[in-house]
Amino acid sequence: RDDQARGRDLEGRRILVTAGGTREPIDPVRFLGNRSSGRQGVAVAARAAARGAEVTLVAANIEVPPPDDVRVVRVSSAEQMAAACAELAPRHDVIVMAAAVADFRPEHVQEGKIKKEQTGDDLTLTFVKNPDILRNLVIARVPDQVIVGFAAETETDDEARLELARRKRERKGCDYLVLNRVGWNEGFQREDTEIQLIDEHGEVVAEVVGDKVSVADAILDVVAPER
Ligand code: CTP
Ligand code: CA
Repeated sequence: RDDQARGRDLEGRRILVTAGGTREPIDPVRFLGNRSSGRQGVAVAARAAARGAEVTLVAANIEVPPPDDVRVVRVSSAEQMAAACAELAPRHDVIVMAAAVADFRPEHVQEGKIKKEQTGDDLTLTFVKNPDILRNLVIARVPDQVIVGFAAETETDDEARLELARRKRERKGCDYLVLNRVGWNEGFQREDTEIQLIDEHGEVVAEVVGDKVSVADAILDVVAPER
């Protein structure tokens, strides 16, 4: 479908999108991060708003400007994102969890900068698990809410990658999962991308190779219409 046909087809829909990559503080000047730029989530937010939806974007360290016509809630760490999502989720019809959330955070955040003089020649940090935001949103879901997860997988075999995504969707319990292939030179920081959208039966219901705007529209075509 093209822009013309879509028009303002998502008018009246309230959509929550997370984007970017969380940063887990180590000390006042350092963090553990990831390579997500936030482009895909921001494109979903922008297209949803352009198509008439009321959009909230929970943005973690995004490297691109947020769209003008969405409400932006800035967060940095996974725990901050978890708190923002828990508060905002009940007021939304659709949740698109595009953010790359750190699975672990340093167990202790150092009060002051870690100094080489104190650590010696090696440094060991202990990490603890972050909350699984998507899983918790599924558990707390309100009636008729549609929840969409993302999975960036490095597995190069197409069938094995799909199988990983099917199992991940089952574990999370979300309605849909967007699978995209990533690697050192694929997926992140890029304008174009390749995705498959899997439904609750594990079926591929959309497949797109294109820019992140086309991907955003294709995802919204499936997950956002009123049922
Ligand atoms: N996610 C989340 N909270 C976390 C980790 C992940 O909400 N602590 C969300 C991501 O935003 C994404 C989905 O869960 O929508 C899948 O993330 P992914 O990292 O692929 O899944 P994990 O369950 O963390 O599994 P893996 O061991 O493959 O990282
Ligand atoms: Ca993970």
